[in-house]
Amino acid sequence: MDNVGVIGGGLMGAGIAEVSARAGLDVVVVESSEEAAKAALGRLEKSLSRAESKGKLDGAGGTTAEQVLGRIRVETDLGAVADRDVVVEAIVENEAAKVALFKALDDIVTSPDAILASNTSSIPIMKLGVVTSRPQQVIGIHFFNPVPVLQLVELVPSLLTSTETTARSREWVEGSLAKKAIDCQDRAGFVVNALLIPFILSAIRMLESGFATAEDIDRGLVLGAAHPQGPLALADLIGLDTTKAVAESLYEEFKEPLYAAPPLLARMVDAGLLGRKTGRGFYTYDR
Ligand code: NAI
Repeated sequence: MDNVGVIGGGLMGAGIAEVSARAGLDVVVVESSEEAAKAALGRLEKSLSRAESKGKLDGAGGTTAEQVLGRIRVETDLGAVADRDVVVEAIVENEAAKVALFKALDDIVTSPDAILASNTSSIPIMKLGVVTSRPQQVIGIHFFNPVPVLQLVELVPSLLTSTETTARSREWVEGSLAKKAIDCQDRAGFVVNALLIPFILSAIRMLESGFATAEDIDRGLVLGAAHPQGPLALADLIGLDTTKAVAESLYEEFKEPLYAAPPLLARMVDAGLLGRKTGRGFYTYDR
């Protein structure tokens, strides 16, 4: 699976494109507009030049940021992924948008063996598989943020995904991209977010009720439980819109109050305070 398509060049899509190109694969990224395509390219350039300056680009994939970038094309026409062996969808966490995209990909991607993967954090893979004519080739390949740094990938076959698709996906993730995979059932949140999101929501409720400040909540978990960062700083990194969307999918699936998004999270998203990506969330950031 040397020809990779990535749909959406945001936080995650740009990361998936970067690790694929760093592994020597040929990558096409599709964005929704020229402006978004420009932003995706800017994200890739910034991340790769940072990796280059830290001496992290050595290895099979090439040694300069320019060489790695040379393996990535950013397009705005979905038809650009027609010839891909694997397409990873990383657009907004919105079921209707993803369903529409998988229908379109099914019509566009020509290789009969191509794997159509989603990086969704919480939407059941089955909902994406059944709108295609090839649900046996649809799978969740869920990366973690920041993609070039974090090793884990969750592999999420639906009830209709073939064992061959899962095996080929594992080989791609572990063999080509040098990541580590864990297997998950097709349940909202898979393994990591099903545990992590209620934890973050509890921290937001704690802040909302005036129990402690954001700084003290985060310091508590960093210094008292050896977490690399506190839950509110982590929510800012994930993006508060994505955090809320994942919480809503979990709540929709399990109907448990622990997954319900607290009002403070909803208001911050309404206000456009989305965390690092907008410069302000629970903390403010120098953009
Ligand atoms: P983001 O908002 O940074 O990026 C989404 C990108 O998709 C944007 O650049 C947007 O222009 C583009 N887009 C939207 N609709 C499109 C379409 N129809 N065709 C092409 N491009 C389109 O979001 P982020 O954080 O990268 O999340 C993407 C996916 O990855 C979501 O499903 C999310 O749940 C999942 N995810 C997010 C993680 C995180 O920490 N943010 C971690 C793991 C998975």
